[in-house]
Amino acid sequence: MTKHATPDERVQIFREDILDGLTRARKTISSKWLYDDVGSHLFEAITELDAYYPTRTELEILKKNAAKYRRLPGARGAMVELGSGSSRKTDLLLDAFQDLSVYMPIDISANHLKAAAERVRRAYPSLAVIPVAADFTQPFGKLPLLPELPVLVFFPGSTIGNFETTEAARLLRNIREAMPGATLIAGVDRPKAEDVLLEAYDDPAGITAAFNQNLLQRINRELDADFDLAAFTHKAVWNAPESRVEMHLESLKAQTVTIAGEDISFARGETIHTENSHKYSPEAFSAIAGQGGWRILDADTDPDGLFAVYTLQTC
Ligand code: AVJ
Repeated sequence: MTKHATPDERVQIFREDILDGLTRARKTISSKWLYDDVGSHLFEAITELDAYYPTRTELEILKKNAAKYRRLPGARGAMVELGSGSSRKTDLLLDAFQDLSVYMPIDISANHLKAAAERVRRAYPSLAVIPVAADFTQPFGKLPLLPELPVLVFFPGSTIGNFETTEAARLLRNIREAMPGATLIAGVDRPKAEDVLLEAYDDPAGITAAFNQNLLQRINRELDADFDLAAFTHKAVWNAPESRVEMHLESLKAQTVTIAGEDISFARGETIHTENSHKYSPEAFSAIAGQGGWRILDADTDPDGLFAVYTLQTC
């Protein structure tokens, strides 16, 4: 995270990770690769869908509690946003935090990040905007600046739910080590009726399907692969024991795909597991936060209890 990878190194990291995941007994691809430029735009479109309740629900919670968050020490210092997601959430907090001096978005998609940073610079000219293009799933090391400033880490969108629980705890620990003494505001999705969950991850307009399939197009584009998009279909499943929605790409026939010169065979019905989206009860999230070295100061939710926004402090 402290050193920047060159474009060649980035392609090499991508290739190795894809081939590693696709040569396992159960084929898998890390969900972080969903977010190239096209994928980031498709995800923005998902957040506007009626079927996708998390974004509007989290926004509603943030709106209702912004005046309270404004009293957190970091609201007068530096706000570090992990995964510069929906600009509407960012603006809501930036509007409320009149005395903020630094905004540091950290995102894996360099172009998406650049656009987001430019937008904030124009809209909030008195803020110092410091974008960091990085994969925050890798250890941070200590972040460069922020010497005397209190720090507020904003981690919205239930992105924490994309990690296996032990990795989620490790990520929280990394954040704590990179920014000791920080306050954290984290959006976390909750368990709910299966039909609501499946509709959110397999929307009628097919935007989520396109988001998932873009992964194959990206591999074709960047790794000289020959995935036949029509031969794979989007699938969302609720894994109750793990309390998570999973996205898969299912092979509709027996087939072989060539990726960067390597042949990968698929049986009919075999899937590539492309994303986990864990849904945490308050108790489950509190346990992970504790493992990561944080304690929960506050939990805010919507009237239906669909989604939660936690305020946490390092312990
Ligand atoms: C941005 C990772 C929180 O898991 O709900 C949306 C991504 N995947 N639809 C989520 C996503 C399918 C989203 N996160």
